[in-house]
Amino acid sequence: MSLTRQQPGTQAGVNATTLIWLIAAALAIIFGGILIGTFAPVVLPPQASAESRQVDALFQFMLAIGGMIFLLVQGALVYSIIRFRARPGDRADGPPIRGNATLELVWTIIPGIIVLVLTGLAYVVYADTRIVTGGEQQIGVHGARYAWTFNYTFTANDLPADLDISTLPVDIQTALADPEHVFTFSHQQMHTWVNQRVDAVITAADVNHAFWVPAMRVKQDALVGRTTYVRFTPIEAGVYRIVCAELCGSGHGVMAGEVAPDGSLVGSWLIVHPDEESYRQEFLIPQMMKILFPPEDPVERGRQLLASGQYPCASCHTLTDLGWVGNVGPSLNGIGARTQRVAASGARDMADYIHTSIRMPGAYLVPGYGNLMTQFNPNPDQPNYMPEADLEAIVAYLLSQQ
Ligand code: CUA
Repeated sequence: MSLTRQQPGTQAGVNATTLIWLIAAALAIIFGGILIGTFAPVVLPPQASAESRQVDALFQFMLAIGGMIFLLVQGALVYSIIRFRARPGDRADGPPIRGNATLELVWTIIPGIIVLVLTGLAYVVYADTRIVTGGEQQIGVHGARYAWTFNYTFTANDLPADLDISTLPVDIQTALADPEHVFTFSHQQMHTWVNQRVDAVITAADVNHAFWVPAMRVKQDALVGRTTYVRFTPIEAGVYRIVCAELCGSGHGVMAGEVAPDGSLVGSWLIVHPDEESYRQEFLIPQMMKILFPPEDPVERGRQLLASGQYPCASCHTLTDLGWVGNVGPSLNGIGARTQRVAASGARDMADYIHTSIRMPGAYLVPGYGNLMTQFNPNPDQPNYMPEADLEAIVAYLLSQQ
């Protein structure tokens, strides 16, 4: 098709030179789009899950199509600017164009087909992050301002074979004897291992959050009053950042994995162990032992509980003894000596003050701080369960901070 200024809009015969130019332009657009789709995603995080490959392939496909459309539109624009520019002395308007049914059909049907293909491909990828294949490791993911807590379960079957049950406290022996009994524990990190499909069961305590693990390419809203799910299979051992992707308040930015100045991991991280054995040795068994053999000294036990990250206090509070540097809530340095708060809050004594601050954080607010803290409840059926024994140990430890 050759358009001239004298007869715009009319079709002349396609000569060989024009055809070659058109083919060259089409090839440049197609290969240009493929180049964009291939090389632009270098900025993405590592592909550490089976789903990440699918998600990235879909993204690259969309990017290639988008790149082609970009090159087509920009190419036509640049070509038109040069080819149909106003020559000196030309003050004429262009001829009116009254529509072109063929052209309109083409530019409607082609995008229609593209959208349908993308919808189909996207659905396949979406379904793969939902499907239950069996054998998933179920991990509770609980979002609360401003930390993620991960909830795990174990039964008597998970205990190490060489554990001598008779050395355990009597109440734990009784619980172990019941094959139905499920022990639960919480941790601030999410632990799994390579090729183990994870079933994240997601809940929210206060406002909506969103559970996002960029390296796994999964992101799922955590909705108040509803349980949501996302499933993925890590394929690379490593440490991956977990982020909150829903603006949830002033501490939204700290609801993620951070690296402390000393290099240690703070906040929410996904730890993918190389295999199930190292997951058990490095994570599950030490955590189980803490529950099966609680330290006798409550101060030591409370310190161990807080240091383990089982409760998400580190992201909001400063406590130098444990390396915490949060600033959303009041500092806990020297909390045991802040006796002026007993009278201010109406508590009986310092132990009562700390106890109430954890069970009912809104009851008394330290001046200058908002009512933002998670409420830790005494009942296993409630969110943010903190057994009374844990709380007493934590109170004992915090009282020792003078
Ligand atoms: Cu939770 Cu943002």
